[in-house]
Amino acid sequence: MRILFTGGTGKAGRHVIPYLQAQGHRVLNVDRIPLDGVDNRLADITDAGQAYDVMSSFAGYDELDGGTGVPRFDAVVHFAAVPRVMMTADNECFRVNALGTYNVIDAAVKFGIRKIIYASSETTYGVCFADGERRPDYLPLDEDHPTVPEDSYAMSKVVNEATARSFQRRSGFDIYGLRINNVIEPHEYKANFPAYLAEPDLRRRNFFAYIDARDLGHMVDCCLKTDGLGNQIFNVSNDDHSVNLTTPELIARYYDDVQITREMGDHETFYCNDKAKRLLGYAPQHRWRMYLDDPALA
Ligand SMILES: NC(=O)c1ccc[n+]([C@@H]2O[C@H](COP(=O)([O-])OP(=O)(O)OC[C@H]3O[C@@H](n4cnc5c(N)ncnc54)[C@H](O)[C@@H]3O)[C@@H](O)[C@H]2O)c1
Repeated sequence: MRILFTGGTGKAGRHVIPYLQAQGHRVLNVDRIPLDGVDNRLADITDAGQAYDVMSSFAGYDELDGGTGVPRFDAVVHFAAVPRVMMTADNECFRVNALGTYNVIDAAVKFGIRKIIYASSETTYGVCFADGERRPDYLPLDEDHPTVPEDSYAMSKVVNEATARSFQRRSGFDIYGLRINNVIEPHEYKANFPAYLAEPDLRRRNFFAYIDARDLGHMVDCCLKTDGLGNQIFNVSNDDHSVNLTTPELIARYYDDVQITREMGDHETFYCNDKAKRLLGYAPQHRWRMYLDDPALA
């Protein structure tokens, strides 16, 4: 497929784009900063004119050869954002994320691009950036759990999900939102996981979950391949927790007053990815135990 990808130069995109290229997709990265190994268009997606322009853009010089005008993108993958609180002023984070998403989805719909995938976030559930400790209403945490966050970043993501839902109703296109958990790059297993194993508290705000950046690429590819689902939201996570405690040990230590709605496996993530597996054939490959040297952890 011919794909317009926003925010591809960032932490997640620089792994997702090569994954998509390896599946045979052609990608144009739209970002304020270029990424090596892919065609780039420098643009600010909060500027509607630029968001519209890139949506009807040649991806590379070779596309001039046909002499048949600009080909239409088959899909848009929208990752560009301020990716957390405490990077910019709170209202600037909200502005960039809410307005940028409106512009990208609006332009994609008006140009007739029938598959739109956008990055939402685990933070919508209101635990990650809460002031103090908040616990989920129940576990495992599925997509039906209420989303009432307190911070501007997660608020922007909740707004984006509402924006997407309305554009989907207008267009009938497939618009899939990914509530991505904490993204882990390949080098971060050795760099960060020893601290997580020593101090599981570090992972409480992520529900002890994570998602490998390459498995996120696989998730996006699953979304590209699966048509006809309309407006959808998917949790995206690995199958395992990111710490070396069992599920019963974590429940006893952190969630003793939280309703557990079904039996769970010994290492099964609290951040339920059943829906992605059921509807998209999602199957994450990269477990942290594969990347640490201590065989006792396998
Ligand atoms: N990293 C995580 O753990 C995580 C978790 C959940 C959701 N997400 C979401 O996934 C997406 C990607 O996250 P990331 O960690 O790669 O973030 P990142 O900050 O590393 O990358 C975001 C990219 O978007 C670009 N960008 C920002 N504003 C832009 C604008 N106005 N116009 C054009 N480009 C712009 C930046 O230059 C950057 O390259 C974001 O939407 C983020 O909210 C990330």
